[in-house]
Amino acid sequence: MAMIAQQIFGQMPDGRNVELYTLANDHGVEARIMSYGGTLVSLRAPDRNGVHADVVLGFDEFAPYLAQHPYFGSLIGRYANRIAGASFTIDGKPYRLSANEGRNHLHGGRIGFDKILWDAEPAESAEGPQLVLSHFSRAGEEGYPGNLSMGVTYTLTAQNELRLDYSGSTDQTTVINLTHHSYFNLAGAGTIHDHLLRLTAARYLPVDPELIPLGEQRSVQGTPFDFTVPRSIGSRISSDEAQLQLAGGYDHCWVLTERSGAFALAAELFDPMSGRALSVFTTQPGIQVYSGNFLDGSIQGKQGQRYQRHSGLCLETQHFPDSPNQSTFPITVLRPGENYRQRTIYRFKVDQQTGQ
Ligand code: GLA
Repeated sequence: MAMIAQQIFGQMPDGRNVELYTLANDHGVEARIMSYGGTLVSLRAPDRNGVHADVVLGFDEFAPYLAQHPYFGSLIGRYANRIAGASFTIDGKPYRLSANEGRNHLHGGRIGFDKILWDAEPAESAEGPQLVLSHFSRAGEEGYPGNLSMGVTYTLTAQNELRLDYSGSTDQTTVINLTHHSYFNLAGAGTIHDHLLRLTAARYLPVDPELIPLGEQRSVQGTPFDFTVPRSIGSRISSDEAQLQLAGGYDHCWVLTERSGAFALAAELFDPMSGRALSVFTTQPGIQVYSGNFLDGSIQGKQGQRYQRHSGLCLETQHFPDSPNQSTFPITVLRPGENYRQRTIYRFKVDQQTGQ
């Protein structure tokens, strides 16, 4: 039976309860999401023999989520990815943001949407159980202009889809770029080197040593960034290609082909061993593919697992990094009276083929 259950997962330092919601569908897919950070804590999906595994990195308990961690399963905002120099200008007016990665702004700053307690309401919908999250972000937080009213709804459908619907409105012109930061590992353990990835992208955004886009949209053809046909993630990740060397693997935004806000396929990920497959659909113009390059075994995650380099893959649908400072990128400005709306679906299935 499709259902949603609720329990207390832990407490914030100020004593407020952190709730954990379990969304389940009739096919045994189960997503657990907590109100802190709107975080996807676990996602259980069957393999080709019907054996379930948790396919996202994270922790069994609440406490380590409060400590420093690399955005396991988090909602990211107000602005996902980097803003160079932690500053930008709107309509001639300069704004200074908190700098939390050297001199740059990363993932919404010191207290981004990953570190706040969202208001959470479980709901039943025709498509399946939902968790409706909302948050009011005050003007000036992390340096951003505008009081921002945010909503993010997770829906687990009967088609084994975890859908995220993002919405937002502001009372002053501002910038916005939300994403979801799960580290997927369809095998449930080990590295993602043998996973096959396909991206509907013919170009990507090369970056400087601080991982800020250069502004150029570079063709993937003939490079380790070509995933126009399924390729294993590990086959070229250690090549001496300069862009891979400076990021320690993939940590780049691909330019999704042929779109202007249309909802379309962005990525397909497949684990030949288990048969688990994941398709990602989105309205967003880009997808940041991050291969867990900063994981180094120092974090002890679920069931004592030490998360080594490349043990999870983030598929972060988003607008391009640093768009507020890049005149050739699609705009991320939100004005009063406009509605910010984005949708991303992570669809799970089982594939009998064993890959190539
Ligand atoms: C994003 C960034 C990475 C890194 C991770 C978190 O995916 O692109 O460079 O900051 O988040 O560790």
